[in-house]
Amino acid sequence: MKNNNWLYKAYKTNELPVLKSAHKRFKKPEVYYDLYSLPANIVDYGKNKKYYIRTYGCQANERDSEHIMGILEDIGYTRTMQAESADFLLLNTCAVRENAEKKVFGEIGLLKKIKYKTPDVLFALSGCMTQEPAVINKILKKIPYIDIVFGTHNIYRLPQLLEEALFTTKSVIEVWSKEGHVIENLPSSRESHIKAWVDIMYGCNYFCTYCIIPYTRGKERSRPVKVIVEEIKGLVESGYKEICLLGQNVNSYGKDLKEDVDFTELLKLVADTGIKRIRFTTSNPWNFPIKLMETIAQYSNIMPHVHLPMQSGSSSVLKRMSRRNTRETYLEITENLKKIVPNLSLTTDIIVGFPNETKEEFEDTLDIYDIIQFDNAYTFIYSQREGTPAASMSDNVTMDEKYKRLYALNDKVTTYSKKNKEKLIGKEVEVLVDGHSKNDHNFLSGHDANNNVVNFIGDKSDIGEIIKLRITKALNFSLMAEKCN
Ligand code: SAH
Ligand code: F3S
Repeated sequence: MKNNNWLYKAYKTNELPVLKSAHKRFKKPEVYYDLYSLPANIVDYGKNKKYYIRTYGCQANERDSEHIMGILEDIGYTRTMQAESADFLLLNTCAVRENAEKKVFGEIGLLKKIKYKTPDVLFALSGCMTQEPAVINKILKKIPYIDIVFGTHNIYRLPQLLEEALFTTKSVIEVWSKEGHVIENLPSSRESHIKAWVDIMYGCNYFCTYCIIPYTRGKERSRPVKVIVEEIKGLVESGYKEICLLGQNVNSYGKDLKEDVDFTELLKLVADTGIKRIRFTTSNPWNFPIKLMETIAQYSNIMPHVHLPMQSGSSSVLKRMSRRNTRETYLEITENLKKIVPNLSLTTDIIVGFPNETKEEFEDTLDIYDIIQFDNAYTFIYSQREGTPAASMSDNVTMDEKYKRLYALNDKVTTYSKKNKEKLIGKEVEVLVDGHSKNDHNFLSGHDANNNVVNFIGDKSDIGEIIKLRITKALNFSLMAEKCN
């Protein structure tokens, strides 16, 4: 290591992650309202400076980024979309699959050039990848010019870490592996003025054998009901039309709270705030009681769309994945949902090529897809995550075969997506208009109640409004429509 080169920093490791200790979950989560503060030294530090942030992965990460942006703006920074003009570069990373990690390392390579040219630029990493010891080791070796690394549990400490980074030539690294707490009153800068993410709980207790999330995000812990409802009332007052309640497994909401409230009760309280549209993600095919389905059906502002990860249609694979349901119980829940919730749309996540998945087991997935006929699905090839139980399972399925299975499944996904959308042709739907279509600026784009993407020609003034449209055409994964007179 060349110490005379600014690029090679020593490390000031306040703490490094230990995957195994993330499994130890003795402490009861606490709710803290006053942990966030700005050190006097950096109150104005970001004035006339810009930050660039890039977020990978799930909605929980997007919401975390809104808090990170809120903190940076609290310090005086303003946002830029051009990395080259930033004084503070931050990547909020995702660890769920190897591909996500590869993308991050690719971007790090690009940003490196900026850091070379302007060494004063601060470069930071956060998110799930930093919670993995193997990744941290790689970062320490390959990215010695990194200034700040923090994890998912200590976002509120960003001002303190920034202060440390300013007064040391070392990389400041602080990543905690622990159960985690509920940290309230963080600043927030929301991406949208129309739709808002609302965290209702953090972490996961399920440890599906393939999944890294319980290790990177800690124990399941719920935000207090009152705090959630107040946040949503504030969003209604500010003109937000839609909220999406977030948790790794929202069905578990409230289990750790003293209050006697579950997800169904929370949904009712949220519906009573008068917010126009409510969505939630993600629910799982266990703890999905009939009363929850009835509540979705009962309230016109709870959208009739359920994203219910299935992962596999084979009970034996589900068992090896440590899922809490079987093929039969998944079928039963989706049948009940379709019966109880009028106009339901159903989407899912599926993993193909789980270790030793046989042809017959994969056929079970194709077969259940034909029965349920999902409106859409996110499909993934199994990705080995170091430290998870599945990573040490033997696997006799070749990568070639895994790709074949993915393509066969994707054919079904496309077929049923289009088939279900065709049923809507000629029908009137209510669409919340998000903005201009990304693919063609002449079109506006929004989502109907079922979460279908709907494109149409409209006025700028439609953006942010819920308007009636008539569906004219079904594409594979979206709809075309015209305004109703
Ligand atoms: N409960 C979480 C799950 C997040 S991960 C939620 O809020 O949705 C999203 C999806 O990624 C999972 O449903 C699963 O289908 C997929 N996934 C997770 N770990 C994976 C792995 N190791 N390989 C491939 N896909 C994975
Ligand atoms: Fe992952 Fe299973 Fe939890 S998919 S987030 S361990 S419910």
